[in-house]
Amino acid sequence: MKRWLVNGEPDTNLMPFDRGLTYGDGLFETIAVRAGECRFFGAHYARLVVSCRRLSLPVPAQEGLLEGATQLIGNDADGTLKIIVTRGAGARGYRLPDDPQPTCIIGFSPEAPPAVPDSGVRVRICRTPVSANPVLAGMKTLNRLEQVMARAEWDDPEILEGIMLNVREELVCGTMSNLFLVARGQLWTPVLDESGVHGVMRSQVLDLADDLGIPCTEQRLAVSLLDEADDVFLTNARVGIWPVAELDGRTYQRNDVTLQLRRGLAERGVIECAD
Ligand SMILES: Cc1ncc(COP(=O)(O)O)c(C=O)c1O
Repeated sequence: MKRWLVNGEPDTNLMPFDRGLTYGDGLFETIAVRAGECRFFGAHYARLVVSCRRLSLPVPAQEGLLEGATQLIGNDADGTLKIIVTRGAGARGYRLPDDPQPTCIIGFSPEAPPAVPDSGVRVRICRTPVSANPVLAGMKTLNRLEQVMARAEWDDPEILEGIMLNVREELVCGTMSNLFLVARGQLWTPVLDESGVHGVMRSQVLDLADDLGIPCTEQRLAVSLLDEADDVFLTNARVGIWPVAELDGRTYQRNDVTLQLRRGLAERGVIECAD
């Protein structure tokens, strides 16, 4: 993060015993900033609010977050805004503090997101599994060690993302993205009741598929569906859609369903590229 505010102050006012640091006790949002605007801020804030409630964390006020964002973005047009909310510093031990004083960090990096080649990206399957835990499923918690270990599995700069499976070897997500497959003339995406993040961009795709009448099934997906799929793509609020060109030797091409979705998303101003 190039510029940041900790509880509204532009310095590193962080306690060494902040529970975000000691236990990963908190949440975060990563928001695309384009032409100075925080894209899908409402959806990011809604996920933050629902997740705070699930974790019994005090909900940060939307106005304060937006004020901080405006201050940090300044005159920069594009970049990434990050919001981190932790349960703050507490007494020793896991017990919830009686009077939590949450820490709210807002950071901004002015770099543009990576360019997405229309031909698609190379992807691999990771060995590190995602754990199943319905209590945490769907939220963007600060516990990201599984993703860190999965991302440590490769250093080939040509490979942009890794697909993560659960211990039953079912498809779950990318290390930083949600996964969609096009097979048998319809859309498939892993159900996220045990693990994964309910992505903002995933919801955009699901809403559009619904509006366009493209059938979409959210369920447990065997890894073998990758061999049957005509097309595969990944979604993330920062990059939009990553079409997958190659996944461990399997190759994919854009088909009618993905082209329809990409055009629809471009028309709605959700993604920038159109085929
Ligand atoms: C594990 C994981 N799944 C999915 C996503 C996509 O979520 P969003 O569309 O809200 O960026 C992310 C984003 O960072 C992620 O880390």
